Amino acid sequence: MTIQFDEIYERRNTNSFKWDKFKERFRAKYRVEDDSDILPMWVADMDFAVPQIVIDAIKERLNHPIFGYSYISDECKEAIQQWYKRRHNWHINKDALIFHSGVVPAIATIIETFTEPGDKICISTPVYAPFFSIPKALNRQIIECDLVESKEHIYEYDFEQLEEAFKKGVKAYILCSPHNPAGVVWSKDTLKKLIQLCIKYDVLLISDEIHSDIVFEGHKHIPTMTVEGAEQAKIVACIAPTKTFNLAGLHAAIIVAENKQLRNALIQNKMAHGLDDWNVLAASGVQAVYEKGDEWLDRMIQYVSKNIDYLEQELNKLDGIRIIRPHATYLVWIDYRGTGLSENEMMDRLINKGKIALEPGTKYSEAGRGFLRINLACPFETVKDGVERFKKALL
Ligand SMILES: Cc1ncc(COP(=O)(O)O)c(C=O)c1O
Repeated sequence: MTIQFDEIYERRNTNSFKWDKFKERFRAKYRVEDDSDILPMWVADMDFAVPQIVIDAIKERLNHPIFGYSYISDECKEAIQQWYKRRHNWHINKDALIFHSGVVPAIATIIETFTEPGDKICISTPVYAPFFSIPKALNRQIIECDLVESKEHIYEYDFEQLEEAFKKGVKAYILCSPHNPAGVVWSKDTLKKLIQLCIKYDVLLISDEIHSDIVFEGHKHIPTMTVEGAEQAKIVACIAPTKTFNLAGLHAAIIVAENKQLRNALIQNKMAHGLDDWNVLAASGVQAVYEKGDEWLDRMIQYVSKNIDYLEQELNKLDGIRIIRPHATYLVWIDYRGTGLSENEMMDRLINKGKIALEPGTKYSEAGRGFLRINLACPFETVKDGVERFKKALL
């Protein structure tokens, strides 16, 4: 099997959100002089081709010309179970798997199932925007607790602040593990404290682990449900192969609900909305990667790690810019507070001078002000191009 990540694919005019929608999105918010040559490094999908095994599996399924109603096979469930056992030392019961079209809609289902309009949902900011936009859309109240910067300039929890929030009657907490946008892999100790706090205040813990497969050397993701004491907490986890293998457009995610009561309530709510499991093509592709995707993933992680090395080496030379080296994810959090530029000034320079589209930090809440997020799941040539554009923006 040939695996290579250097090839540049033209993604314009493929209905790609990342490549075809940024013009609209950025125009709505920022002054854009000319968007004909802007390099998009914002949305979290990869510019890498998916593993060939996905294409082969889908092609094989296409050989059968009927796409009638279908169910997720036991082989597919087995592949999921084995993957999590092999890669994360996490035993998931097949019965605990609830199939969904995405982690974001899964979070919506979970919130809708276990909380009421007006209830308080707590999150630790800065964090992935749907963590606040979904509960808000469901008329829940968002309680933001800022993460604090640690000595190593990466985030950590302030558990006193979190406990103060929980005391006020929080119903659910959404955990991002590993963390998007800063790429933190949470320690066992942090997860244990969080679980204990959720138990103490009877808070439902929603553990979004979509980024858990992309972890760099020296770090290890710990599935929340495997942490000591987790069996006493109300926890549901969200997992997916979509970040790992660049399959977001196939729409496939899983809620893991080992607790029978929680599981039944979720299944009931899924049914109430007429939500189905994965479509036949997604199921074929997902089974293939969970059975045979290890080598591709390991090589992709090594490739992205080198991209990060280069970004770090080049951007850290710039006055006022500091790279937060991620433990996980292909996303890098860039601290530009040292430049003294406001977010609007920075975005204006990036878009109109450098011609590069990055995510502004406030997209992840006010706590992200002074930061940018860049996506490095792309060929090295694209990273080099992005770095040059970034430098030009700051000239
Ligand atoms: C933390 C997190 N959760 C969920 C998602 C999206 O999940 P899905 O595409 O399955 O809805 C992302 C995408 O970037 C993410 O970073």
